[in-house]
Amino acid sequence: MEGVDSKMRVLVTGGSGLVGKAIERVVKEEGGAREGEEWIFLSSKDANLMDAAETKALFQKHRPTHVIHLAALVGGLFKNMRQNLDFWRNNLYINDNVLQTAHEFGVVKVVSCLSTCIFPDKTTYPIDETMIHNGPPHESNFGYAYAKRMIDVHNRACFEQYGRRYTAVIPTNVFGPHDNFNIEDGHVLPGLMHKTYIAQKEGKALHVWGSGTPLRQFIYSLDLARLFIWVLREYDEVEPIILSVGEEDEVSIKQAAEAVVNAFGFKGQVVFDTSKADGQFKKTASNAKLRKYLPDFKFTPFDKAIKETCDWFVANYDIARK
Ligand SMILES: NC(=O)c1ccc[n+]([C@@H]2O[C@H](COP(=O)([O-])OP(=O)(O)OC[C@H]3O[C@@H](n4cnc5c(N)ncnc54)[C@H](OP(=O)(O)O)[C@@H]3O)[C@@H](O)[C@H]2O)c1
Repeated sequence: MEGVDSKMRVLVTGGSGLVGKAIERVVKEEGGAREGEEWIFLSSKDANLMDAAETKALFQKHRPTHVIHLAALVGGLFKNMRQNLDFWRNNLYINDNVLQTAHEFGVVKVVSCLSTCIFPDKTTYPIDETMIHNGPPHESNFGYAYAKRMIDVHNRACFEQYGRRYTAVIPTNVFGPHDNFNIEDGHVLPGLMHKTYIAQKEGKALHVWGSGTPLRQFIYSLDLARLFIWVLREYDEVEPIILSVGEEDEVSIKQAAEAVVNAFGFKGQVVFDTSKADGQFKKTASNAKLRKYLPDFKFTPFDKAIKETCDWFVANYDIARK
């Protein structure tokens, strides 16, 4: 791949978030970086990527050869339902600024991040990489979904017009250390972890939002980080690739709650609050393309990853986002 040599300088936007922190750990602690490489992890404090001039100044300063683009307005079902306009505009501006500026500065490769929750609501299962634009997304998060889909449009057009090999990965629900554990605005697993922590501390029942029946594929942020680095180095397609555990590893929200309850050793009552929305019933994704490339990649077992994340949350309660 052009440009992958000892002078690789990788800019990671959104480097202070759940996925960015996991990539940083793999790069720094697991030998993910190679000799002579420079990795730069950014947060919104380095630049507001909604602003074109600030984005340009950032690229001027760091002159990256490669970009992992994670920065985004991210949130769970309930925050998405409240703020569809913010999710649309923030992400549209951030993505256009990063991708266009990368092109202008001659960046060799950009790997952006889509999500399986941007796929059509009415679809056949399992969903795969060819189906992103085949119909409207779920109404709860249409702002986020359409903004993310436009990354794929941008990448295809940029390849056709300029030959740039900018691509995107499509993770399923991510969880791990440094997640947003806010109960109202966060994703289901960190929200459940925080609620279980409080229920245990106060000796009260744990209230799980929704019926517990929806199905999800969860990926541990450290597994995703290892795969992200592989995509940056080895994956040469412009078309996106789903990064997910297999269809057989899909779990219900009820099973996910049980894993969290076990990790905390919570002995109280668990109540499913069916007055709260469930969101999409399922969004089962195929990881066949990933398996074609990496048949032997080993995902961390779900219960182990949940336990590590709960332990991190307890140990870092004061600094955790919540
Ligand atoms: N979490 C999931 O389940 C999931 C699933 C599929 C895909 N993804 C995608 O994965 C990527 C990373 O998500 P995450 O869960 O790691 O998110 P996160 O923990 O919320 O982190 C978001 C990151 O984006 C930065 N950011 C937000 N707005 C910015 C702005 N205007 N300018 C510059 N930086 C900005 C934040 O900086 P500060 O720390 O300074 O605020 C932070 O580093 C996103 O593209 C997301 O769409 C996430």
